[in-house]
Amino acid sequence: MLTDKRILLILTGGIAAYKGLDLIRRLRERGAHVTPVLTRAAEQFVTPLSVAALAGHKVYRDLFDLTDEAEMGHIQLSRSADLVLVAPATADIMAKMVQGRADDLPSTLLLATDTPVMIAPAMNVRMWDHPATRRNLAQLRADGVTVVGPNKGDMACGEFGPGRMSEPLEIVDAVAAHFGPRPLTGKRVLVTSGPTHEPIDPVRYIANRSSGAQGTALGRALVGLGAEVIFVTGPADVAPPDGVQVVPVQTAQQMRDAVVAALPVDAAIFAAAVADWRVASASTQKLKKSKDGLPVLEFAENPDILAHVAQMSEGRPRLVVGFAAETHDVQVHATAKRLRKGCDWIMANDVSPETGIMGGSENAVTLISDEGAETWPRMSKTDVARQLAERVAAALA
Ligand code: C5P
Repeated sequence: MLTDKRILLILTGGIAAYKGLDLIRRLRERGAHVTPVLTRAAEQFVTPLSVAALAGHKVYRDLFDLTDEAEMGHIQLSRSADLVLVAPATADIMAKMVQGRADDLPSTLLLATDTPVMIAPAMNVRMWDHPATRRNLAQLRADGVTVVGPNKGDMACGEFGPGRMSEPLEIVDAVAAHFGPRPLTGKRVLVTSGPTHEPIDPVRYIANRSSGAQGTALGRALVGLGAEVIFVTGPADVAPPDGVQVVPVQTAQQMRDAVVAALPVDAAIFAAAVADWRVASASTQKLKKSKDGLPVLEFAENPDILAHVAQMSEGRPRLVVGFAAETHDVQVHATAKRLRKGCDWIMANDVSPETGIMGGSENAVTLISDEGAETWPRMSKTDVARQLAERVAAALA
């Protein structure tokens, strides 16, 4: 899908540079030609030799390498690619790009290029959140740079938060999206994602362990295929993807309202882990300990958003997809659920704790449709998302 695309890959100095090695492999697997460029700092994390070996190409490092200037000047190098990809992109290279500085080979290439530029930022969470980086990010976007990630998670520095470089496959998706084909162009797709929070009182709530990882991966894959994505999300750990219209909600009832307001859509995919029940009369004041005993919570049933949309007599999306998280007899329950809810497909998965799927990076799903059950091999949530997005595109074609 990236056959003969020429990628000028600039690796800058951060621990995420090690993922750059896998990125090179993944890009080449898809047929791209990778010309690698290393900053001096990047060489502290990965060796030019391993980069050259994986890329199957000479590594460019120095602005004043006269042999290179004789063979190929930096201007020509910067323009000989279909895409300039900076991964990982440190806070420093982002600042340099904003300022238009050109004091080494990578920054000079970035200033001289007339080809599209994509960056995958990676840095400590405080650096990412710093107002200077926020400003630089906004400016880079305004300058037409495509930004992939970063993700939220554990960081090499021991902190947690946004700043982890996107996974190589996510970056490959973004690169593929850049080049097309984009079969979902002109299609509107709704995705629900994340958990819901059902209040007990103003400070307490009932939640579940959904991280929003699968929904985010799905949103990204759909955007990658050109869809306009309305992303209705509960309070998830994983940030929504770039390029979607985010509608943040807390409760199932708010999610239902946001979903109904987003219609009509061509396809609706319900990846959210919606709480089945809410506290019937959530207290408007914080519940206090009392000598009279423990509080008794009464529950009320939440609206089934998927069933509501799947059973609409007018304005039903052409394709309605649900997820079924089960802990046993997955296929039997999911097959019954598809019929009960009236959706077209169910993506069934086993979320029993030993699978590590809930909150993890992998998923093992069975797609259940009126044609039967199709079990996919265990794969990353990114790959599940990509395959599902392609199936959605085929169904809407
Ligand atoms: O019934 P169950 O919760 O297992 O169904 C899972 C599917 O239904 C998921 O696609 C989920 O997003 C959707 N759902 C919903 N509204 C609810 C409960 C589940 O949209 N109240």
